[in-house]
Amino acid sequence: MCGITGYIGDNKTTDILIDGLKRLEYRGYDSCGIAVVDAKNALYLKRVSGRVDALDKLVAQEPVKGAQSGVGHTRWATHGAPSEDNAHPHTDCSGRVVVVHNGIIENYLDLKEKLLASGHKFKSETDTEVIAHVIEEKLKSLHVQEKAIRSDMLEPVFFEAFRRALAELKGSFALSVIWAACPNMVLAARMYSPLVVGLGKGENFIASDVSAFLKYTKRVVFLNDGEIAAVKKDGVDFYTFQGKKVAKESVTIQWDSTMAEKGGYKHFMLKEIHEQAESVENTLRGRLLPLGGNILKAEMGLSAEAIKSFSSVQFIACGTAYHAALIGRVLFENFGIPASADVASEFTDRAKLLGKGTLVVAISQSGETADTLFAVREAKAVGATVLAITNTVGSTLTREADHVLYTHCGPEIGVASTKAFLGQLAAIYLLAGHFAAARGALTSSEARSYAENLLKVPRLIEETLAQEKEIAKIAQGFASSEHFLFISRHVNYPIALEGALKIKEISYVHAEGYPAGEMKHGPIAIIYKGMPLLAVAPSGRALDLMAGNIEEAKARGAEVVAIVDEDSRKTVKASRYITLPKTEELFTPLLTVIPLQLFAYYVALAKKCDIDKPRNLAKSVTVR
Ligand code: AGP
Repeated sequence: MCGITGYIGDNKTTDILIDGLKRLEYRGYDSCGIAVVDAKNALYLKRVSGRVDALDKLVAQEPVKGAQSGVGHTRWATHGAPSEDNAHPHTDCSGRVVVVHNGIIENYLDLKEKLLASGHKFKSETDTEVIAHVIEEKLKSLHVQEKAIRSDMLEPVFFEAFRRALAELKGSFALSVIWAACPNMVLAARMYSPLVVGLGKGENFIASDVSAFLKYTKRVVFLNDGEIAAVKKDGVDFYTFQGKKVAKESVTIQWDSTMAEKGGYKHFMLKEIHEQAESVENTLRGRLLPLGGNILKAEMGLSAEAIKSFSSVQFIACGTAYHAALIGRVLFENFGIPASADVASEFTDRAKLLGKGTLVVAISQSGETADTLFAVREAKAVGATVLAITNTVGSTLTREADHVLYTHCGPEIGVASTKAFLGQLAAIYLLAGHFAAARGALTSSEARSYAENLLKVPRLIEETLAQEKEIAKIAQGFASSEHFLFISRHVNYPIALEGALKIKEISYVHAEGYPAGEMKHGPIAIIYKGMPLLAVAPSGRALDLMAGNIEEAKARGAEVVAIVDEDSRKTVKASRYITLPKTEELFTPLLTVIPLQLFAYYVALAKKCDIDKPRNLAKSVTVR
């Protein structure tokens, strides 16, 4: 996830662009830049590998006067590590077409190959840069030589070249584009990534979300997928990608800027819980079909042959990422691939037993967790191959791993991990599917069904989130409880652990997650009358045993909240129910964790805890 801005008007273009980027930094902050054009068609481009404050200082050293249009970008890297060269804006060979982009161009490698073959020179490793060169090609195909073209033709030609370029792009994009020959128009387009236009007086704005320009105007127009905005000082016109003009209504935003950064949510954690469908969708996008591993070769350098060569898989991670690792273990074993999962800080002895045939999968949102990095080094020391699953391009983990599979969740601001966890699960399901298909553990029809189940998940997540109000009500009823117990079995046992961790992290109360089968072996003794016990009990092989555990807990006075689907609800006798949409048992963790995240959030909210920044915790634990 990145933040893009655009501006056209007579005020201080660079100040407005930079101010907008500062308000979009929660979307990405590893590098940033702006490009502006003045009335004499001179273009100024400034980029830094770092935060917007550093860009602000750089621009202040060489102030640009008279610029009337420009674009800006604050980056969360997906392709190409954070660096000045990879920072946006990106330009074409002429340096006159300038692009900022939020999203992922899935076919950028194909486009880049063709463009290189026709003589284009690239300056970055990003997918975005190809967009500038494709526009350049389209301008050429319209036989445009800037100097030769009549001034009144510049805008229509720029628009047509941009429109034709969009047709070449596959994937997700929100774009803001300028052409130095055409300083009176900024073009924007949206496909799967958010984009909004702000309507001012004698000036207009473009941004990833309204927080970038709310201080200047509250009148906005939200673009839909497949729409273009041609933004000029005195007005904005909207078109489809096919060039058909469309009438769009403006709305007036009631938020202030701070609320806008959180998308109107009270906390980043709640906003990020609601971004989980997008996190899963973006992590799966362009990587799922056909299952079998080859699609991963281009991105990760992991061939189907290599996938077949591993004798076992060993997961290592910490905290929430470890819970994802535990689900990975169940998934891989489900496909007949020996797997284990260890807390990274307890890996030393196991590391000594690893062989070359082991694939070590290190999971880390930040890619900077000291325990996980230490465990990776122990694995490398014995010759194991290391694959990283991380959300942070250019992080230490990516430099030490042999292969990297990125989750595409955008920055996670809340200390309590939610959307990054769902992204990690999506990556693990993706990996397990490719491994299973490559090793013949899935027939082609089973592989198709596996992929179809995964592709349904974002919609099922949205359906699950629709129950937020009911979940909040249940949670508020337990806000004064001092102990919580979470139980489940099989692929949802790690979800019980994750639910307990969420409550501990943000409400500061004692909670334990347990494999339900263990209750009889001791923990059932702690149950007291009124104790909240959350039981994850979807339909599947564990249901009957779960129903028995729930009965036993209730018989000892527990207040049982059962996370069920419409079928398992008929079997389970709980005190309260949270009913999720039905999916195959193997995929249920992608849904069952969501009510537990919301439950923890609303307990913490009722206790007035500092939800985004819980006491004693850091977003990334960079010490052992
Ligand atoms: C989870 O909510 C916590 N923030 C914490 O357990 C976290 O998952 C753990 O520190 C690992 O972080 P990483 O994914 O960045 O390695």
